[in-house]
Amino acid sequence: MLDEVGEPKEVISYERLYRLWETGNWSATVIDFSQDARDWSEAFDERQREALLWNYALFLVGEEAVARTLTPVLDAAPGHPQSIFLTTQIVDEARHHVFFDRFMREVAGLGRDTASTLGAVDGYLTWGFRQVFGELDRLSEALRKKPKDRALLTQVVALYHVVIEGMLAIAGQHFIQRYLKERGLLPGFRVGIDNVSRDESRHVAFGIKFLGELVRSSAECRCAAIELWDRIIPWSTGVFIPPNMDRYYTEAFGFTLEEIYAFGLRSLEMKLARVGIAPEEVSLLRKEDRTQSYEERARRIWVLIGSGILGDDRREPEPTDEALEILFQGMTYSMDLEVARSLGGPIQWDFTDAEPWHIVVVDGHTQAKPGRVGDPALTFEVASGEWSKIAVNRSDPRVALLTRKLKVRGPWSAKSKLPKLFDQKSPPSVTA
Ligand SMILES: [Fe+2]
Ligand SMILES: [Fe+2]
Repeated sequence: MLDEVGEPKEVISYERLYRLWETGNWSATVIDFSQDARDWSEAFDERQREALLWNYALFLVGEEAVARTLTPVLDAAPGHPQSIFLTTQIVDEARHHVFFDRFMREVAGLGRDTASTLGAVDGYLTWGFRQVFGELDRLSEALRKKPKDRALLTQVVALYHVVIEGMLAIAGQHFIQRYLKERGLLPGFRVGIDNVSRDESRHVAFGIKFLGELVRSSAECRCAAIELWDRIIPWSTGVFIPPNMDRYYTEAFGFTLEEIYAFGLRSLEMKLARVGIAPEEVSLLRKEDRTQSYEERARRIWVLIGSGILGDDRREPEPTDEALEILFQGMTYSMDLEVARSLGGPIQWDFTDAEPWHIVVVDGHTQAKPGRVGDPALTFEVASGEWSKIAVNRSDPRVALLTRKLKVRGPWSAKSKLPKLFDQKSPPSVTA
């Protein structure tokens, strides 16, 4: 088995990763962009240029953010091998920023200097991007103030190296590299992105090793990593949602949104396994049918995005029949079987604006089915959009109960089991 830098996993060491950095050094300032400038105006049309700008804007702002937020991790590093590598990574991230900054200004013609070029692409940033990188800013700032806080350090690495680098950046780079290589376009950009991609593989290999050590060091660090992923992964589904959900933004470059999500999902699960955490331990992944292919799972995530349930919390969900079916299937995977069985009857959802659904325990399995069922142990009365938000942890069920958006009918004995029944970090209050 090889790791991200093509080394056998068992021999990977911080020292080896440092040596790879020395031998892999490159220069962002000597790249010749003259053919890129010709390609930019001649090989692409207006829509393609706009799609490239959107994609590269996420990288430009992302690289600037990761260069800036890594110093607290360096200060918090527990030993010399980690701090020596992290010092090289800060240099790398600054170099990546210089590379994207040069391309955006010298080829795409955006801005007059580094600050104005960054400012010029702000309008391209997606809601998901702002959420994920906003959290990186907050956590990194908190770690700056409390460098000895191991749980906080674990969360920054779980976000930075696993989600941002290991899932989002690697997936985005892969498809852009493939298209430009196949077409022989933007030769300067290709030289740079190939180097960026090699650097990122090294960073991810470091992050997995470092995070694995932190997660194994204490139960508190392990819980901190899982809590971080529970919170961030739903937001990260929104990072690559193109403007107006226009599929042309990726399909113009030969890949679908589902392909990039499948790639990211596979990449994330491989990293979790290397850290020693099962996908079932992470809330959103627990609600997926993992017997399905990554492509099918990505398609289902896009059904939820299309219904406004995932990806941009400013939208009110309007769940389609298929979206409800996906949510109910997910609930059966995450529901506590023993608690469901102990209710002694099915659970009914009477939607105020959609067809009813119910969940029953049959032959030792929870099953979700459309329609009404006789003699339910519990009945929920709620709008389908509100329930969708609760199902993906966007809404707190306790607040929904208090504001009467969610009503529960059933005997006290069944209601009292609600907190244990559902996969909720904050159990719903049964007294409302
Ligand atoms: Fe980078
Ligand atoms: Fe990186």
